[in-house]
Amino acid sequence: MESMHVSLILIGIFVLYPRTGALLKLDKPVLFGPSVATEGSVVDFYCEIPGKPATLPVLYELYVETNQNKVIGGHSSLSGEIATFPLVINTQHDGQLICKASGNNTDIESSFSEGLDLKVIVPVEGVTIISHPSSNNVWEGQTLTLQCKKTKGTYVFYNWFWNERPVEMAYDRTDDTLIIHRLSARNTGHYMCVASNRFNDTMTFNSSSDVLSVQVKEYVSKPEISVDVVKLKDGGFKAIISCRSEKGTPLNTFSLLNNTDIITTETSDSTSMLFSVPLELNRYMGHVSCNASNEGNWVLSEPADLTVESVGGAVTVTPFTHTGRDFQVVGLVLRCKVERGTFPFYHWFLNNSRLEGQGGFYAVAWSDESVLSLSVGQDSAGFYHCEASDRFDNSTSIRSPRMLINKEALNRVSPVVAVVVFTSFAVLNVALMACCIYGVVLREFITSLI
Ligand SMILES: *[C@@H]1O[C@H](CO)[C@@H](O)[C@H](O)[C@H]1NC(C)=O
Ligand SMILES: *[C@@H]1O[C@H](CO)[C@@H](O)[C@H](O)[C@H]1NC(C)=O
Ligand SMILES: *[C@@H]1O[C@H](CO)[C@@H](O)[C@H](O)[C@H]1NC(C)=O
Ligand SMILES: *[C@@H]1O[C@H](CO)[C@@H](O)[C@H](O)[C@H]1NC(C)=O
Ligand SMILES: *[C@@H]1O[C@H](CO)[C@@H](O)[C@H](O)[C@H]1NC(C)=O
Ligand SMILES: *[C@@H]1O[C@H](CO)[C@@H](O)[C@H](O)[C@H]1NC(C)=O
Ligand SMILES: *[C@@H]1O[C@H](CO)[C@@H](O)[C@H](O)[C@H]1NC(C)=O
Repeated sequence: MESMHVSLILIGIFVLYPRTGALLKLDKPVLFGPSVATEGSVVDFYCEIPGKPATLPVLYELYVETNQNKVIGGHSSLSGEIATFPLVINTQHDGQLICKASGNNTDIESSFSEGLDLKVIVPVEGVTIISHPSSNNVWEGQTLTLQCKKTKGTYVFYNWFWNERPVEMAYDRTDDTLIIHRLSARNTGHYMCVASNRFNDTMTFNSSSDVLSVQVKEYVSKPEISVDVVKLKDGGFKAIISCRSEKGTPLNTFSLLNNTDIITTETSDSTSMLFSVPLELNRYMGHVSCNASNEGNWVLSEPADLTVESVGGAVTVTPFTHTGRDFQVVGLVLRCKVERGTFPFYHWFLNNSRLEGQGGFYAVAWSDESVLSLSVGQDSAGFYHCEASDRFDNSTSIRSPRMLINKEALNRVSPVVAVVVFTSFAVLNVALMACCIYGVVLREFITSLI
């Protein structure tokens, strides 16, 4: 049997060979044609048994491997010509095409070609973005899933854009979906997807979605509370309580609490709120705090003491010296302090005329103007004093004792004790900071120098 098979091939009648019994089998046909085609195009596929004797009639049939019952092309080759299958391409042709060759005699066994892969390209169309959760209600910390949906298209690939730039590789992407974990305000912006498929190097089909606007909402942050006092025309006072959060997508709701009782609740389209409550000076008014929310999550500020004491007691001026290379005092920093008072404010005077802001030899510093920096010289000699009043009411003030400042008076101190050497007026501020941080210790030390 084996030797007969071999000899049949050798003498060239290799189309037929005997198998068990009288059955003969056709040689394997060869199928060729394009591997990519667009839907609706007309494309020819060809099938033949190479070297088949022209006289042998063969029926060629074409079908898709996944649907062997449905013949999509047939050709009877009676005089040895190659079989041609002109196909109007549709999506059912996508897959592996197989050509079947059969003789017109039941004694001849059919044979099959190798599969030919065909990709049917349907140009992509109708792209939209589906957002989970809905793009108009996304909160920081959530996961946002954007899916690029198409109405048509095969062998599609997707590109995502954020504010017209391709999205970073760091995002989690799967096929048509973009997933953004732990959203933050940085993810706010305009998203778009472009779906494409390619027929050949020169033919690409694209479809773009509309721009989807995503605003990542932020939870209101812990508010900072601060209290200011205003004098009213009728002589009374009110406290202006400011409640300010760093962030928080409006609307934000703020509550004002006195200890644990809610006094009032207001809603704002910004991240801060001002509350105003009547105030009596020098009386216990409780501790207030504020409580902010924009999505059911209440955040409570630290409490602030609402008891406001007006200025009272003695006013003192403490000098800090500033010496040059020759250990001579070249500058001074004066600090004014009142014994009592929640919102003190200070005024400085030289020979009873007010010193404001900055002049040739001085500068008034700090928000309560409690500090006066001086360079010591001809112009600056004289009697200095300061006055303290309430920031919210300057109608009454308390004076400090006067202090004579001139070069001679200052340099009566032994130079050896002036340890710290500075070289310019500009570094006074540094000295000042140091003084205030180590105030208690230095004050003792420095006042002993003067
Ligand atoms: C086989 O084909 C030949 C040539 O066309 C034809 O004469 C013959 O009748 C066919 N036989 C069958 C069984 O169809
Ligand atoms: C791509 O396909 C088009 C349409 O069939 C054809 O005109 C073009 O020459 C092809 N380009 C390449 C590079 O094959
Ligand atoms: C399709 O998009 C690709 C890149 O996304 C671009 O290079 C190409 O020019 C676009 N083609 C068309 C027809 O818009
Ligand atoms: C806060 O409560 C205290 C009593 O606990 C009361 O004396 C005070 O007047 C209250 N303050 C305000 C601003 O309502
Ligand atoms: C904050 O205020 C809300 C409503 O005004 C209240 O329900 C909540 O208990 C308050 N939270 C705290 C910690 O006081
Ligand atoms: C301040 O008064 C003293 C004493 O009367 C005087 O010596 C000094 O020059 C005055 N200083 C200024 C800047 O007017
Ligand atoms: C007190 O304050 C009022 C209003 O701020 C101002 O016009 C006035 O000049 C001040 N008086 C003094 C003595 O500083």
